[in-house]
Amino acid sequence: MAISSIFVELPRSKSHSHAHPEAYLYALQGSGYSEIGGKRYEWERGDAVHVPPGMMHHQHFNPADGEAKELRFEFGIRYWMVEQWRGYTTIDRHMKATQLDE
Ligand SMILES: [Fe+2]
Repeated sequence: MAISSIFVELPRSKSHSHAHPEAYLYALQGSGYSEIGGKRYEWERGDAVHVPPGMMHHQHFNPADGEAKELRFEFGIRYWMVEQWRGYTTIDRHMKATQLDE
């Protein structure tokens, strides 16, 4: 497992809805919520968000006026699976934050 990046969520923004194998986010700063598989999960500094295996669509939201920051934890098997999986595509490389009202 690797801590591969720090996400910085701009105030009043959201990520794309996207899917990939299992991962965790650990909230370093701020608060918000994530929708995973159609359910909403609130989080704040010190919480971990588990994106379960199963390619569930998920999206992260920062409705606050300040930035939120999260550490991204990824399992190495994620990239092995993706390489074996014919037709698999991820939109991570194109992820772009947008304003909440867009
Ligand atoms: Fe994700």
